[in-house]
Amino acid sequence: MGKKIVVFDAYGTLFDVNAAARTYSQSYADNTFLKIWEKVSTLWREKQISYTWYYTSIGHRTNFWKITEDALDYSLDYYQLNNSPGLKANLLSLYKQLDLFPEVLGVLKSLKMEGYPLAILSNGTTDMLHSATKNAKIFEYLNVILSAEDVGLFKPHEKIYSKVLKHFSCKATDVIFVSSNGWDAAGGSAFGFSTLWVNRAGLPEEKMFWQPTWSGSDLNFVLALV
Ligand code: LAC
Repeated sequence: MGKKIVVFDAYGTLFDVNAAARTYSQSYADNTFLKIWEKVSTLWREKQISYTWYYTSIGHRTNFWKITEDALDYSLDYYQLNNSPGLKANLLSLYKQLDLFPEVLGVLKSLKMEGYPLAILSNGTTDMLHSATKNAKIFEYLNVILSAEDVGLFKPHEKIYSKVLKHFSCKATDVIFVSSNGWDAAGGSAFGFSTLWVNRAGLPEEKMFWQPTWSGSDLNFVLALV
C-alpha cells in the first residue's frame, strides 16, 4: 500500500480568514473599524459559508469569489460600513493574500520531505487559491490544488470531494482529509475519507450524523497520523 494522500481544506485550515480584516484594521485611519473588525470578519465568514450551503442545496451554480464579495457586502451593510471609502476593495484584495496559521509551513515541509502526496481541496476559485498559496509560499509543496470552481457547487456536495479520487485515481480510504470546519470534516467522513478536524477554536464537536476520525488543536496533529 502506498502512502496516504493528505488533502487540506484551505480557508480556516491553512489560511487565517480573519487576517484580511485584522491587517486592514491595523492600517485603517478610522478608529471605528479597529473596534469592530472581529465582528465584521466573523459575520463575513458566517455569511460566506451559509451562502455556499444555500446555493448548493438549490443546485444553483456560482463561484466562491462572487459569494465572498456578496457576504462582505452583507457584513459591511450590517455594520453600516458600506460607505467607508476603499474598505471593501481593500478587504477583498487582502483576502487574496491571507496569512497562514503559524505551524502550516513547517507541517507541509515535513510531509513533503517524507514523500506524502499533498493537495488542497477547497471551495475557493482557482485564482483565489493560486494567489493565496503563491503569496504564502506554499504552492511548491502541493501536488495539486483542487477547486470547486468548475463544478459550481460547494462542499459538502460529493461532487467536490470526489475530485480527489478522480485526480489521484485512488480510493476514499487512501485519503486523510484535514479541515478546521467541523461540517467539512463531517462531510469528508460521510464521503468515506479518514478525517482530521483541526479544532483551532476549541469548539464542541458538531452534533452531526458523521464524526471526524480524529481531532486536534492545530495542523501538527497530522504528523502524528502519517
Ligand atoms: C474551503 C472553505 C470551506 O476552503 O473553507 O473550502
